[in-house]
Amino acid sequence: MVASINATALLHWRREQLRAGGNPADLDWLLDLAGGVSWARQQRLRLEPTATVQLACDLARLEQLWRRHRLEHQPLQYLVGVCPWRDLELRVQPGVLIPRQETELLIELALAQPRPAAAPDSEELPMLWADLGTGSGCLALALARAFPGSRGLAVDRSAEALAVAAQNLMPAAMPPGTSVGLLQGSWWEPLHPHWGQLHLVLSNPPYIPTGVWEQLDPVVRLHEPALALDGGQDGLDAIRTIAAGAQRALAPGGWLLLEHHHDQGPAAAELLRQGGLVDVNNHPDLEGQQRFVSARRSP
Ligand SMILES: C[S@@+](CC[C@H](N)C(=O)[O-])C[C@H]1O[C@@H](n2cnc3c(N)ncnc32)[C@H](O)[C@@H]1O
Repeated sequence: MVASINATALLHWRREQLRAGGNPADLDWLLDLAGGVSWARQQRLRLEPTATVQLACDLARLEQLWRRHRLEHQPLQYLVGVCPWRDLELRVQPGVLIPRQETELLIELALAQPRPAAAPDSEELPMLWADLGTGSGCLALALARAFPGSRGLAVDRSAEALAVAAQNLMPAAMPPGTSVGLLQGSWWEPLHPHWGQLHLVLSNPPYIPTGVWEQLDPVVRLHEPALALDGGQDGLDAIRTIAAGAQRALAPGGWLLLEHHHDQGPAAAELLRQGGLVDVNNHPDLEGQQRFVSARRSP
């Protein structure tokens, strides 16, 4: 802790910051992640006006970060350098997508799929999974923790993203005996030596139609990488490529799980069927919108 302040003074400071504009929930997030004052503690301050609050960084620094967010639309996660996601605290920086809450559900879907039966001569081999377009490595790290002893491969075209993923996928963050290899290249290409062996593949590919991307909030459009978001004219460029290569890359019975835009459910499912996959199903997010599709290679 580098500074201490009286609760009344901190609440006054908060009101002053918000007077100039900005979203109160964002300022509270900043106070929590950068200031070290948890949301629960912030709520209690109103009942304890004379309490002393310890801060992880001084108010001048917090004010500077808040101004950069408010005036330059810089995402708070980039300014602070971390993003809470599932039970993880991930490193993020410009050049890598900030993990979104809805993507957490891809891990729940992965956990809900039946494990493909191992071939009789490969019973001793650990489960092999891949994360296409790994970005910060959020999905890869969550998979590694969900499947101890498994072997994972995390692919991205962006060297910047892979550098951040490498920091998040430190061996110390994973269960013993679990490994994740990082590969640079386009979708299935760098996985060529493993084609036909992948038991589970997850991807949250870029899927925003270009026209929609151009209208996104400046905090996203001006600062997050277009490579991570722009999915081409209909948003389906990446999903088309992934669906077309899935049959060759998956092990018999292996699962492919994709995230997509809220209006792409039927098109994404059709692309997977055209790619030769079976058991194709759409899945909703927590608001009931179809945001995910699962399918597998026939056993
Ligand atoms: C929507 S982001 C997902 C990042 C991360 N998996 C997540 O859920 O937060 C899509 C990722 O795909 C990567 N990407 C874009 N085109 C690619 C390609 N042709 N091959 C591999 N990765 C690609 C981007 O660099 C970006 O990291």
